[in-house]
Amino acid sequence: MNLLAIETSCDETAAAVIAETGDPVRPWQLKSNIVASQTAIHREWGGVVPELASRQHLRDICGVVEAALEAAGTRFEDLGAIAVTQGPGLVGSLLVGVSFAKSLAWSYGLPLVPVHHLAGHIESLVLHHGELPLPAAVLVVSGGHTSLYLVREPGQYELIGRTRDDAAGEAYDKVAKLLGLGYPGGPIVDRMATNGNDRAYAFPVSRMTHPNRNQPVSTAPPGLLPPDIDRNVDFSFSGLKTAVLRTVNEARDGRREAGSTDAAAPRTSDLTPREIADICASFQRVVVESLLDRTFETARWLGARCVGIAGGVSANSRLRADAEARGAKLGVPVFVPPISLSTDNAAMIGAAGLRRLRAGVTADWDLQALASLTL
Ligand code: KG4
Ligand code: ZN
Repeated sequence: MNLLAIETSCDETAAAVIAETGDPVRPWQLKSNIVASQTAIHREWGGVVPELASRQHLRDICGVVEAALEAAGTRFEDLGAIAVTQGPGLVGSLLVGVSFAKSLAWSYGLPLVPVHHLAGHIESLVLHHGELPLPAAVLVVSGGHTSLYLVREPGQYELIGRTRDDAAGEAYDKVAKLLGLGYPGGPIVDRMATNGNDRAYAFPVSRMTHPNRNQPVSTAPPGLLPPDIDRNVDFSFSGLKTAVLRTVNEARDGRREAGSTDAAAPRTSDLTPREIADICASFQRVVVESLLDRTFETARWLGARCVGIAGGVSANSRLRADAEARGAKLGVPVFVPPISLSTDNAAMIGAAGLRRLRAGVTADWDLQALASLTL
């Protein structure tokens, strides 16, 4: 059976066709995966502009869906179901995908499957690697989320910890912006960091010493976590971002005091390429260490048989290399998606969609896009 998946939660218009294989170990086959990125549009503004994003989805959605069907060698008549990202995300963007998917499903008399964007990121691992050894500790790390899940049964995601402030990808994007490096920041900082000294700056690692007053309702059953984990598993990146800002300002001010008379020069010109590379490398080391410390500690506490890392930041070269090295040292298998399935795409929504369809989940025609949908 072929399923068409549609993803428009942020600034990528994406469609994919996924087929069921009948093999319980490798249940899905990727037949096509088309992504129309809006990066060039939003770069000019230094970040995603929601209104521009939804308008661009409208322009691109027909062509992207047609391209996905063509690349898969399928027609609408060959489809058995349609899956769509219901949330979370930008509501105007989500609405384009949800309305389009609903109309298609209704027109062709197909079941419609609503998918949570983060379930998609998690299932990208299964799409590529086959079913994971369970229980699995899966870190989803993207521009909007940094959340750690325990997967004990296929399709069941228990939230174990998450960021209390910025998502890791958001921190990357903000640091890139304050260094004047452009948008989206993650890949640029990753690249710049390769030439830097990761010990040049001693940026702080946040430690969660206080109970979380804004804790969302945990999906983990009571008693699952050892008593102190509730507090320690969370992530935090806003203090690190502020430390980078302070370092950048001090470097600039120091330079001015040392004789610069050109106060009108762009502030970023005050930093040397070496300083920028060192800041990127030092920032990246702290982000990667704090992500991996908590993920591997939690995996051990919970007896996870593997660690998965998914979402846009899983494309990061150091995160991948360090995760693999740690896994090898600890004897824990580590799974990451290929780069094409790390950042937003519809193939992962198709995988999660097939999982839900087989669990009996379909949507009614009154399905709504939900910007803050919980998993
Ligand atoms: O999953 P994703 O495509 O969209 C969301 O669901 O948010 O993740 C996008 C995020 C952005 O913050 C981007 O800067 C970050 O992933 N990212 C990276 C890298 N590639 C993308 N961060 C660090 N290193 C990378 N190589
Ligand atoms: Zn995403």
